[in-house]
Amino acid sequence: MKTINLTVNGKAVSAAVEPRTHLADFLRDTFNLTGTHLGCEHGVCGACTILIDGTPARSCITLAVACDGASITTIEGFDDDETMRELRAAFSREHGLQCGYCTPGMLASARDTVLRMPDASEDDIRVAMSGNLCRCTGYVGIVRAIQGVMAERKARGFSSSAAVRTALGPVGSGHAKPVQADGAAAAHSIPKELPAARQRPAAESAVPGAADLGKPQTTLHQTFSVDHSREKVWAFFGRLGAVATCLPGTSLLAEPTDTHVEPRIRIKVGPIVADFEGAADVVRDASTHTGTIRGYASDTRSSSTTRGEIRYVLFDDKGGASTRVEVEVGFTLTGPLAQFSRSSLVQDIAKRMTAAFAQNLQSRLNQGEGGTSANQAAAPAAELDAGSLFFSVLWDRVKGFFGALFKR
Ligand code: FES
Ligand code: FES
Repeated sequence: MKTINLTVNGKAVSAAVEPRTHLADFLRDTFNLTGTHLGCEHGVCGACTILIDGTPARSCITLAVACDGASITTIEGFDDDETMRELRAAFSREHGLQCGYCTPGMLASARDTVLRMPDASEDDIRVAMSGNLCRCTGYVGIVRAIQGVMAERKARGFSSSAAVRTALGPVGSGHAKPVQADGAAAAHSIPKELPAARQRPAAESAVPGAADLGKPQTTLHQTFSVDHSREKVWAFFGRLGAVATCLPGTSLLAEPTDTHVEPRIRIKVGPIVADFEGAADVVRDASTHTGTIRGYASDTRSSSTTRGEIRYVLFDDKGGASTRVEVEVGFTLTGPLAQFSRSSLVQDIAKRMTAAFAQNLQSRLNQGEGGTSANQAAAPAAELDAGSLFFSVLWDRVKGFFGALFKR
């Protein structure tokens, strides 16, 4: 047993807990806070959603010992919360609940959505709430209730800025502040807009335009270096076929052009296999060595879809002997796989995929594949062994967890 100190619904508490106990059981059994419901206990349904340091989190997949020092808010802690009061009334008015089992988690996520995204469209709300499942399928009423609260708040001229997440404690979503792979704040600003002249009319391409993308649900920053000049790396990045085959698990569905590519990305994580097929448009600016890749993909097996944008900037490094590549990936995932886009596991997997991409890129350039003319695909990269990737991520987590435990 380990004694942990935390704040639960504004009250400082201290309790002994077994390392294996998850936060939901801890809250229900130790403090009788049974408003936190357990549905799947696998981090899928969202019924157990509570706030940890102001950030919605699944209490069924969070160990209580990992929350030492954190501030927890369960549904019982929102009695005096104005936004929650409005949401409760709206859920009743709009018939946003039937059996009520999902409702505490729904309300926690809905409150976060109202505060963070005051101008959200119906689609945005559905994406933001896609990590909460209702077995009674009351989604229409739920979305209408959230829209109603947003409209009422807007009519009152209410600004949400004061309530937006500001800090993360020992446990949080990790989304509050974009950080680079090494944990530092992003040092360079990556251009947000494409040159207007290069944007395609919607009718010419199935790839969504910037306006259609909306705010990405998840944003990741990655940085890597290759020991070749910026001009050589820039030229290689212009060969979309070759670039695609540097990405583990990626193959091409059609011959790419200079500005359009249609990839298939196969990802296997444990029992889950996803075959994403899609298309992307690419715009590059040689004067700033920046590129933007905007696209969509869908996995018919799981009925999940994703759309998003990758922006990269190349920087001279080591006096021109090397190139530093900074990448920002913003994407929104909908459908059954959406639950994983909120997980910090995505950050770890993205980090490893970036490392594999950098390694493949380095070896291609070492082989002298830096030419500018051909757009053909190079020899296929090694397939992504996502199974071992997943387990190496988990293994790192386990090591980190026990390391932290023994230091205390
Ligand atoms: S009970 Fe936690 S996500 Fe389903
Ligand atoms: S209201 Fe019954 S599970 Fe959502």
